Amino acid sequence: MRLEKIFIENLKIFPKLELYLEDYDLALITGPNGAGKTTAFVAVPVIAFYNEFNGRSLKDYALENKVAKIGLEFEHEGKRYIIVRQYSDGSTQSIFTDTFERRKISKSREIQNTIEKLLGMDARTFLNTVVIAQGEVETLSERTPKERRELFLKFLGIDFKKAYEKVSDEIKNVDNRIGQVLVEKTVLEKDVKIKPEIEKRIPEIEEEVGKINLTLTEKEKGKNSLLNEKEGLQKTLKSIEEMLATYQVLEREKERLDSEIKEFEKKIGGLKKEDIEARIGLLDQKLETISTTLELLDKRNQIDAQYKNLEEIVKTLESYRKPEELKQEEEMLRKKVDELANKIEDIKRNRMEIETKNSASKLYIKNLREETVCPLCKTELSEDRRIELITEIENEIKEYPNTVKNLDTSIEKLSREKFQLEQKLSEIIREYGRSYDAYKKIENLAKGLPKEVVSDPKAGLKNLEIELGNISSQLTDNAAIIGLELKSLGVQRLIQVQNQLNKEKEELNKALSSYEKYEENISKLNMVEEQMAKLLPLEDKKKRLENKILQIDHLIKQVEKEINILYQNKGNKEKELEQLKVRLRELEDKEQQLKKKCEEERELLKRKEILTIVKEQVFKDNAFPTVFLEEFLKHVQMNLSDFISRFKGGRYEIDISLTREGDVEVRARDRSKIDSTFRSIKDFSQGERTILGFAIRLATMKAISSYKGKSMPNILIVDEGFGPLDQENMKALIDGIKDLKNVFEQIFIITHIDQVKEEFEQRLIVEETPKGSIIKRI
Ligand SMILES: Nc1ncnc2c1ncn2[C@@H]1O[C@H](COP(=O)(O)OP(=O)(O)OP(=O)(O)O)[C@@H](O)[C@H]1O
Ligand SMILES: [Mg+2]
Repeated sequence: MRLEKIFIENLKIFPKLELYLEDYDLALITGPNGAGKTTAFVAVPVIAFYNEFNGRSLKDYALENKVAKIGLEFEHEGKRYIIVRQYSDGSTQSIFTDTFERRKISKSREIQNTIEKLLGMDARTFLNTVVIAQGEVETLSERTPKERRELFLKFLGIDFKKAYEKVSDEIKNVDNRIGQVLVEKTVLEKDVKIKPEIEKRIPEIEEEVGKINLTLTEKEKGKNSLLNEKEGLQKTLKSIEEMLATYQVLEREKERLDSEIKEFEKKIGGLKKEDIEARIGLLDQKLETISTTLELLDKRNQIDAQYKNLEEIVKTLESYRKPEELKQEEEMLRKKVDELANKIEDIKRNRMEIETKNSASKLYIKNLREETVCPLCKTELSEDRRIELITEIENEIKEYPNTVKNLDTSIEKLSREKFQLEQKLSEIIREYGRSYDAYKKIENLAKGLPKEVVSDPKAGLKNLEIELGNISSQLTDNAAIIGLELKSLGVQRLIQVQNQLNKEKEELNKALSSYEKYEENISKLNMVEEQMAKLLPLEDKKKRLENKILQIDHLIKQVEKEINILYQNKGNKEKELEQLKVRLRELEDKEQQLKKKCEEERELLKRKEILTIVKEQVFKDNAFPTVFLEEFLKHVQMNLSDFISRFKGGRYEIDISLTREGDVEVRARDRSKIDSTFRSIKDFSQGERTILGFAIRLATMKAISSYKGKSMPNILIVDEGFGPLDQENMKALIDGIKDLKNVFEQIFIITHIDQVKEEFEQRLIVEETPKGSIIKRI
């Protein structure tokens, strides 16, 4: 084993500490009293491993109101482990880590088991084998053999005295328990006695219940068959009721048909169907005739109108000349008037020219008379010529009034002629207007007439007369058919008659259709009566069925009553049975308990016997511990020879053995002395006793570890082992310890003695500071 790291937080002495120890093989830890050496190198590792050191735990070392923590990393048999324990608020949490298996445990019981298994020892053995505690080295050598015996037994973890007391106490306990068991047994036996009675009663009740069940099954069967029968009857009843419902419907139908038939017969009063049909035929003929008559009347009216129009056309044609003829005449007259007007104009113009010429001639004559020069050509006229001219013009002037008078007469004559023509023209224009209007009227009248009639109006008139003749003869016939006089054959009258006839026909048709319905009703009535006759006996059957159902209901009720009583009985029995079974189970439990009590009693008696043997045989005269110790000491003796040879060059030899009383006697001899015989260790000096004690302690440690059957964690912690040694002995012890480097993987030597420090290469100093203790490496 190798301690690799110790870490601490918030302990009273060490507020904070991280200590790497993996490189230390043989280390010296020094420091003043009370600096914290034991705490750091004994208390902390032991609490880390076992949660407790000499009855103290982390809590006792922790700073108040702080989370206190200690941790230990170590190597054992090639694997690394970490233990961390933390204390706060009254509880400690722990985590154990197996870094190889990558496993973490946090349950403290499990951690304890794991560590004890891993190290092969409990806390006490660890302190006895790994640690040589402060002030313990000398104890072995300084105590009496009797005390030493107890100490060795303590090292081995066996307290025989305590064991003896324990066995005695246990015997007492067993005795007490036997007494108790006997009392419990008596109570149980009393209870169990009544079990057979219950066991007998249960099948009896079960049989009774079985019987009830059989009866119940029968009754239920009976009830079911009654229910089935009832159901069947109800079905039949239902169908009968359904049929009877039909009967009622039929009855109502019959009533309705009867009354309808009677009503019809009353209404028709013995009139036969054929009569009605014949009458309808007659009416149809009359109605047909009326509608043709109406058509004829309409046609006659049309033809009458045509005739009137045509008559007017003929009259007009006879009274008026055609407008185009008049137009031609008008044109001709106009032309004539125009010609006359032109002629008159021409004459008037002529007259004006003559007048002008006359005026010019008068002026000419005047000029000629006064001058010789021609007034026109301004040439000198000969007198002759001038007189000739004057005469000629004077003649002309003389002729002028006649000429003018002639002209005026022509004008007057022509004007008169023109006036007459103009009067005629206006006459013609007036006539044209009248003719135009008349012919326009004809055009309008002709629009409503057939072309052929219009093309020859007179012939048309004749044709229309013939047609009218035909119509009136047809009308005469029709009037006879309809039963009217010819003169009263007007449209209104006809429509009146038509309405009357239609009404009558409607009535007749109604009667006819009622007749059909009447016949239908009669055949329906027959059918209904037939069906009713068939249904009549069902009424009786229904009554019978209803009675039967009532009877069955009564029976069912009776059976149900019986069944209820049976169920009640059964329920009671079953309840009783259940109670008995519960009781039986309880008794069986008790029986089982009794059996267990008997077994326990046997066991207790056996145990008492064994304990008594152990008490009286094993602990008698401490026989067993003595044998055990003798065997153990042989191992110690064997180891001692090895360890003692390492101190002072094998100067001492130790003999460790039992006295006759079973106590442990340690004797030694100093080979270097003249008297080198064995003597009791108490006769050696204190310094020698320290060395010898150290050797015995180491030998014992090794024996314990082999006795426990495990390879021990091969580290050694020696807390203040040098006691009162002189320089030489101290050197010897240190050499001896150095020699042990082969035996232990790590050795920690704790001492406050400063002188030894030169002897060790690896050193640690625990120092107190105002902020708490610290540890320094050197
Ligand atoms: N369980 C404890 N509770 C409180 N204080 C403690 C406890 N154990 C030790 N101490 C105190 O812790 C301090 C360190 O004690 P420790 O035993 O570690 O000192 P040491 O260095 O081993 O001294 P010495 O050389 O005297 O053996 C001391 O002041 C001591 O009184
Ligand atoms: Mg100490």
